[in-house]
Amino acid sequence: MTEKYLIRDIGLAPRGQVKIEWVKARMPILRQLEEEFKETRPFTGKTVVMCLHLEAKTAYLAKAIQAGGAEVVAVASNPLSTQDDVVAALVADGIRSFAWYGATDAEYHMHLKRAVECRPDLIVDDGGDLVSLLHNECREQLPQVIGGCEETTTGILRLKAMEREGVLYFPMMAVNNAYCKFLFDNRYGTGQSVWDAIMRTTNLVIAGKNVVVAGYGWCGKGVAMRAKGLGANVIICEVDPIRANEALMDGFQVMPLLEAAPEGDFFITVTGNYGVIREEHFRLMKDGAILANAGHFDVEISKPDLDKLAVDRREARPNVEEYTMENDRRLFLLAEGRLVNLAAGDGHPAEIMDLSFALQAMSLLHLVDNQGRIKPGVHPVPSEIDRRVAAMRLDAIGVTIDTLTPKQDEYLTNWRG
Ligand code: ADE
Repeated sequence: MTEKYLIRDIGLAPRGQVKIEWVKARMPILRQLEEEFKETRPFTGKTVVMCLHLEAKTAYLAKAIQAGGAEVVAVASNPLSTQDDVVAALVADGIRSFAWYGATDAEYHMHLKRAVECRPDLIVDDGGDLVSLLHNECREQLPQVIGGCEETTTGILRLKAMEREGVLYFPMMAVNNAYCKFLFDNRYGTGQSVWDAIMRTTNLVIAGKNVVVAGYGWCGKGVAMRAKGLGANVIICEVDPIRANEALMDGFQVMPLLEAAPEGDFFITVTGNYGVIREEHFRLMKDGAILANAGHFDVEISKPDLDKLAVDRREARPNVEEYTMENDRRLFLLAEGRLVNLAAGDGHPAEIMDLSFALQAMSLLHLVDNQGRIKPGVHPVPSEIDRRVAAMRLDAIGVTIDTLTPKQDEYLTNWRG
């Protein structure tokens, strides 16, 4: 490996720096952690490889970890979410980065390999590509890795599969499953950023439209809740009977995707699965239907099926691909079916990523503090970390809450009556 970094244009750094300043001012928890890390330098001598969506909030996380003494290496977790100016700012600040917007599959893979060749002691992954590469192609690097953190639902699913097969080599902290992650980032973050991206790309009204949401996990709940708030009629498609009941009691219609297909004006996939909207659904959709994906990978809306059915195809607007079907119906796919909120937007709001990235930073610290004591496998974020992040946010925004009286404390533990 020769290159110190692989990015589009270092000259873009000043614009990236301004973006990072904007989010830093709105991430008080991470600011406090950065100050603590500057004092204690807990990551001194450690190389931390981060495979994340490389936009401003992530850049600030990288800088906070660097302030703790780490050599930080940044690589993209999605070829369309990289912001070239932000990556340039990282390099200008001494963070080795391997990413550019619009990387091909081969370039994306090459960037990951370059990052892994930096010999990570700790990793932060979003979606599991880094862990997968380490275990499949770069096994010589495995013994050095103390552990890592996973940001998202899809990554946790992949890690659990590895754990079940007994092949996961080091401990991974399931940051996605902490309360301060999924309750806020998955629900309110996705809910807001997905609609922000859809509205800025299409410039269409949502009120009075039929919005079909496939998947009613925490992200799907957020997308559906915000669609309702915008005045849409929301239809939920689910495979899980408990979640389907939840959607019904939250006031939504529930039906199979085949029934929803002719009704929808907007379709949003948030399942984490493959081939969710496919040929049989496209054939039934009405002219003008908008298709967007908010799941980690671009496999939820079948692009091969769209290509097969289309008689013509063109760019209708930036980030909007128009597919004309045989009977002149047009279907519009946003952001190539990639995570719409990051590929056609800036991701979740800074105040929300402050919580998620504070969990990441503190989970890395937990791994360092407990080096050699945590078994390989998928581990929950300790609840003290989760609660500290929640308390730090309340403190930062000046909200105080009640505390139990000693008698109430005693009452809660008294089982004798
Ligand atoms: N910004 C950085 N990482 C993100 C993520 N996983 N989801 C939304 N916005 C982000």
